[in-house]
Amino acid sequence: MDEEKESDTLARFSGIDIPVGKVLSLERRGWRRGSPQDAGIQCWIWRSLPDGRAITAGLNPGIAVGYVNELGEVQRFEEIYISQSSDGGWYSPHAAIPVLDARRRLRVRDPARPHRDGGAVTNPTPPPTPTVTAAEKRMQRPSAEVRYADELARLRASDDAARPPGWALSLRAARRFIIGDESAGITRKFVGDPSLIDRALVSLATSRGLMLVGEPGTAKSLLSELLAAAVSGDSTLTIQGGAATTEDQIKYSWNYALLVAEGPSTRSLVAAPLLRGMAEGRVVRFEEITRCPLEVQDCLLSPLSDRVLTVPELTGEDALVFAREGSTSSRRPTPATAASTR
Ligand SMILES: Nc1ncnc2c1ncn2[C@@H]1O[C@H](COP(=O)(O)OP(=O)(O)O)[C@@H](O)[C@H]1O
Ligand SMILES: [Mg+2]
Repeated sequence: MDEEKESDTLARFSGIDIPVGKVLSLERRGWRRGSPQDAGIQCWIWRSLPDGRAITAGLNPGIAVGYVNELGEVQRFEEIYISQSSDGGWYSPHAAIPVLDARRRLRVRDPARPHRDGGAVTNPTPPPTPTVTAAEKRMQRPSAEVRYADELARLRASDDAARPPGWALSLRAARRFIIGDESAGITRKFVGDPSLIDRALVSLATSRGLMLVGEPGTAKSLLSELLAAAVSGDSTLTIQGGAATTEDQIKYSWNYALLVAEGPSTRSLVAAPLLRGMAEGRVVRFEEITRCPLEVQDCLLSPLSDRVLTVPELTGEDALVFAREGSTSSRRPTPATAASTR
């Protein structure tokens, strides 16, 4: 134990085998999967620490984007360490953070120690504590999940209602997050008819797209950001529509060096927000959709109706990315669309 205090790794947790489902459930506690590496494999999970670093656990064999059980039902924690990078991306020896503190945040059960619940998997819902890093504090306009990290954490902690699959909060807690709850110290963020929020949440909970239509300055962008923060705990998966928006920026593009060298493969595929949101089960926001050319808007038809995104350049299972539970898109058109949709 004393050695551990001096170290930046948690040797006791290395080598533990964990079912994939349990690894994924850590995402509800604020952990994230690392960026996909070669062949679209996510090889580590990480979680921010308040000082801008991260705690990282290497996974073996890793998780294939979009096919979480593809590489086996069990993942081994290869190495758990403090990373100097805020996205947990690389190993940094001699981290100054006390390891005991890191272990408290990790909340991975020590196999050598008996557990209070006798080993049963209890409610995997405790609040992911969205951590606000020092770097984020210096942002001009942090995203909603950073601005309201405390409120989200409190709502998650007290949220005992059922959550739709893939959601970070129940519908009731998401509603309170947006329209506020004075008694619980949750600020009112959206001023307007609460039934609008109910309709929006029900649309998202039933895995349908949500289209917000209205005059400029009527909080469409604000509302979609709040909805994404409440539902997925992350509002940053955003496509900014415009006259020059292309399908590549919505669905996927290619690493051309790899494409030329090896041909199309999951290794040379570069996921854009829609593909990532579908594969990871997160809300994708599409700003100003009606500024996009019509033929570009049409590429959303299949993902929104059939909940599948095709990659015709690939073959077999790789050619179809099915939407994971929790993914949906919240779209905000310009007023011009409001006229054309009526
Ligand atoms: N109903 C509302 N409730 C709370 N804030 C609002 C409301 N309507 C407008 N605002 C304020 O106006 C700002 C601009 O709204 P925005 O979401 O950008 O509008 P839109 O995307 O509809 O053009 C919001 O960030 C918010 O501060
Ligand atoms: Mg807007």
